[in-house]
Amino acid sequence: MKTEELIERGKKYLMQTYTRPAMVLDKGAGTKVWDLEGKQYYDFVGGIAVNALGYSHPKLVQVIKEQAEKLIHCSNLYYSEPQINLAKMLVELSCGDKVFFGNSGAEVNEGAIKIAIKYFKNQGEDKHRIIYMKNSFHGRTIATLAATGQYKYQKDYLSILPKFKEAIFNDLDSVKAGIDQEVAAVLLEPIQGEGGINVATEEFIKGLRELCNQEGILLIFDEIQCGLGRTGKMFAYQHYGVEPDILTIAKSLGAGIPIGALIAKEKIASSFKPGDHGTTFGGNPLACAAAIANLKVIQEEDLVGKCQEKGEYFKTKLEGLKEKYPQKIKEIRGLGLMIGVELEEEGQEIVKKCLEEGVLINCTAKKVLRFLPPLIVQKEEIDYLIDILNKILM
Ligand SMILES: Cc1ncc(COP(=O)(O)O)c(C=O)c1O
Repeated sequence: MKTEELIERGKKYLMQTYTRPAMVLDKGAGTKVWDLEGKQYYDFVGGIAVNALGYSHPKLVQVIKEQAEKLIHCSNLYYSEPQINLAKMLVELSCGDKVFFGNSGAEVNEGAIKIAIKYFKNQGEDKHRIIYMKNSFHGRTIATLAATGQYKYQKDYLSILPKFKEAIFNDLDSVKAGIDQEVAAVLLEPIQGEGGINVATEEFIKGLRELCNQEGILLIFDEIQCGLGRTGKMFAYQHYGVEPDILTIAKSLGAGIPIGALIAKEKIASSFKPGDHGTTFGGNPLACAAAIANLKVIQEEDLVGKCQEKGEYFKTKLEGLKEKYPQKIKEIRGLGLMIGVELEEEGQEIVKKCLEEGVLINCTAKKVLRFLPPLIVQKEEIDYLIDILNKILM
């Protein structure tokens, strides 16, 4: 079927929750993807920080095929080997002790909020509020929307959203001001993604850890976008020398197969007893096998180290563009391969022009070009993007 006909069909049958360009993606390999007409694109969006290994990585494909032939799904009424082994891997890699698997970022953040409240409930305390940051993004379910500090997403549901409290990112006093007897936890992304690639300062993160300790409340890091190697460390919290009590990851965990993980320290993890929380699909054998294969490739190919190195290279190139076009580029931010370019004007036009030139990029918070390429991106591919941006900004 032709692109135009297919898009027409899509408009008829799909809820129009996204504004999409007039092309249909068909296949991919490495950092490249092709549309139905055979046009090639370099992908610097990476499925919004999902496609860590790019497209069609042979080791990932092989494991998915083998697991699909063996056992795709068995529910959480039974143990499966991939789920147990993935939990072990994540605990060994992170600061957590136990894992609960969900299917998406919002779902595991929802779990994080529930377990924080349950932790205090079990001690006879009614702490049911979360402090979240302005410009955060934690998902689109009711509780995660309540913790998403962006009015545009919350506004139609305010009457049913739990009353959480907003604080200012990188402003410890604003968090202190929000703490009272009802607060169970502080939830934040160490590097805000949707909010415009805003990196938390070391002072803020260390201050938050101390504050939470003093107040006896929990610190939750949402590393759904910034976790698993992207920032040049396996987890973003490792840049700060501070450990959260609860950690959530999703997006790149399954390298394209939906899976999320809620990871917690033992004293919190044990708050959930059989029946307290659950999900039908979460951590099914196929998704867990894919995640194990993904983590193995990340480790074997030192993609975390490469992220650090390529991120530096990428940022230096972008700084070059900033020097050349100071009237157009305001700031370059980010860590590793999670990079934002704040423009002086809105960025959607640049996204459109890049698409025409065969490069997929994204713009968030209206003025921030956001780059989240696969962790396997090559320097020549970064050079290609820089040349295109140079041409567009000229
Ligand atoms: C930091 C962060 N948390 C949570 C989410 C929600 O994840 P999902 O779309 O998988 O529900 C996102 C998605 O963009 C995110 O970036």
